[in-house]
Amino acid sequence: MTRSIRYLMCAPDHYDIDYIINPWMSGNVHRLNQGLASQQWQQLYATVRQYAQVERVKPERGWPDMVFTANAGMVLDRTVILSTFRHPERQGEQQYFEAWFASQGYIVRKLPDGMAFEGAGDALLDRAGRWLWAGYGFRTALEAHPLLASLLDLEVLSLHLVDNRFYHLDTCFCPLSNGYLLYYPNAFDTYSNRTIEMRVPEDKRIAIGEADALNFACNAVDMDGTFVVNRVSAELRDTLEARGFAVIDLDLSEFIKAGGAAKCLTLRLTEQLSPETVEKVAVCSRSISFEGQLLDGNLLNEMLDTIVSGGGSFQIEQFQLGEQRLNPSSVKLHVCAASALELDDILSQLIARGATSADEFVRNADLQSVVQAGVAPEEFYVTSIYPTEVLVCGEWLPVFNQRMDGTIAVTGTEAGQPRAVCRLIRDLQVGELVVCGLQGVRTVRQPARERSPQEFSFMGSSISSERRVELAVDRIAWELRQVRDRGGKTIVVAGPVVIHTGCGPHLASLVREGYVQGILGGNAIAVHDLEQTLYGTSLGVDLQRGQAVKGGHRHHLKTINLIRQHGSIAAAVEAGAISSGIFYECVRRGIPFALAGSIRDDGPLPETQMDLMQAQADYAELAKGADIILMLSTMLHSIGVGNMTPAGVKLICVDINPAVVTKLADRGSLESVGIVTDVGLFLSLLVQQLYRMEKPAPIEQI
Ligand code: ARG
Repeated sequence: MTRSIRYLMCAPDHYDIDYIINPWMSGNVHRLNQGLASQQWQQLYATVRQYAQVERVKPERGWPDMVFTANAGMVLDRTVILSTFRHPERQGEQQYFEAWFASQGYIVRKLPDGMAFEGAGDALLDRAGRWLWAGYGFRTALEAHPLLASLLDLEVLSLHLVDNRFYHLDTCFCPLSNGYLLYYPNAFDTYSNRTIEMRVPEDKRIAIGEADALNFACNAVDMDGTFVVNRVSAELRDTLEARGFAVIDLDLSEFIKAGGAAKCLTLRLTEQLSPETVEKVAVCSRSISFEGQLLDGNLLNEMLDTIVSGGGSFQIEQFQLGEQRLNPSSVKLHVCAASALELDDILSQLIARGATSADEFVRNADLQSVVQAGVAPEEFYVTSIYPTEVLVCGEWLPVFNQRMDGTIAVTGTEAGQPRAVCRLIRDLQVGELVVCGLQGVRTVRQPARERSPQEFSFMGSSISSERRVELAVDRIAWELRQVRDRGGKTIVVAGPVVIHTGCGPHLASLVREGYVQGILGGNAIAVHDLEQTLYGTSLGVDLQRGQAVKGGHRHHLKTINLIRQHGSIAAAVEAGAISSGIFYECVRRGIPFALAGSIRDDGPLPETQMDLMQAQADYAELAKGADIILMLSTMLHSIGVGNMTPAGVKLICVDINPAVVTKLADRGSLESVGIVTDVGLFLSLLVQQLYRMEKPAPIEQI
């Protein structure tokens, strides 16, 4: 018999919408139909009373949301953990709920002041009483979860709410009798969905769609199989009935205006644990500190976003604002996440952005030896593009050959000094020591430079729109010129589109005029360039007329054949078989290039490196020490180069696909710029601008 279940409800005598603290309330301020609300509430009350006992707390004037008794607290046996409301608009309810619980003989527990917790809105007991599902993200602080675990002596599973329409856990998640779970997966982040999937077997999970979710289908009162809810779809009704639930749907529209429905209007007072519960909570935390141009450079925002989007939460423990424009600010943060894995993910991103551990004692990096060649110890630290240091024997060592996606190996120098170096997993040798975990690792961010007003193009990883292409090109031309004139190094990474768009001669002229110190590409760019020189076509298409040439498809293979006959591009140039083009200029000027092969290559050309590990090494060698890397329409090779390039190198990525540009330009550094445009347009503007600066124009046949 279900009469043993007890609920607490509060009549809507003073219910209204006086303020907006969730998206449902907006547009509804003072737009309630009080009479209808009262009828709807009475109907719910009468329905619940058929199956359970209902206690009532006296409504109080001035506290319009008090009807939502689910937020009074979280009850377990005779203990209640009283809510600490996040919004001042509801904080006044606490004293009335507290008085009611005390008058009924409950043991009333409270969380520390200021630690937001909204009761059974965000804390739902598994129906078999084995653990507590706890939500966070909007109303309840993640920091409250470990306290719930210890106060109630049970396991807490933290779920991260990410859609503000579902701001309380009970708006999108409803544990049901017989182990079923009704929920709306899109309201949670990926980790949380995984947590749910790991705990609740697939045949017990009832995932609902957006339409039912927006009708508060998860906000239901389940009384041992009697399921009382706001209007549900016929489909969901069938699903539930097929699983043995008796569905009673009511109209609760006046309460949905405030962001609540059946479950929010009730608080279950009879909650019990199963005997085999364990106190456990996965929530972990650590303190970090950070110093730099936190506000000017938007770094603080980025860091806090990283924490929140990674599923964590934070508390600012200290903050000191730099008083002058160039004075650094500093902050100490306490970062908390729902599991060690999530915390590690968040911390490694923060460390990559320059944060350091603020734990009392900075400990030496944890070094573990490699036991299998080419395999790192399990917890190895993954490198970023930022200059990194590791603490070894109490001394911070700089890491050499910085690149991303590597490990840090600590070796000894000949003089017996330790030395840290970035090493790819495959290059690790047995016995080598590798940095594991995050302790004793820090990255060093360059202090922000004073920017001149003209310096627009390399600022803040900006993505230029079409309108800004010309401005960006002017700036890039200026930079290229500077680098050339001081004997610096510009590397071009180019895809075959450069040739297809008819821009081969522009790039060739850049090589000829000394603007390029190395070219990185694949087999295709070289074959197309040579074909264009030999036949005026690219993959059989006449570049002047833009039309396929009769029999032109053979040009491509004939080109490859010719170069193979000579043994190399250089030999073909020497023999006079090739007399213009990008690679002709490279050979003539002794400009090195590296061509990386791929599965789809024809030929390949003798120079194309089909051993990809060797090709990566060749690329790395050529890109080393570059001042500027110009990436022209090749996602594959550009990302490859981006990975091996440390922060501080200016990357200019030009691609018609914004996704490629965003991926490469967003390196969290000032030096990257992305330009979403046609590479042909870009190169012709660039060449025009460069030669305008240095008359007379030395470009042939453009
Ligand atoms: N207007 C209330 C608020 O935003 C609605 C509470 C709904 N309660 C719930 N348990 N989801 O706080």
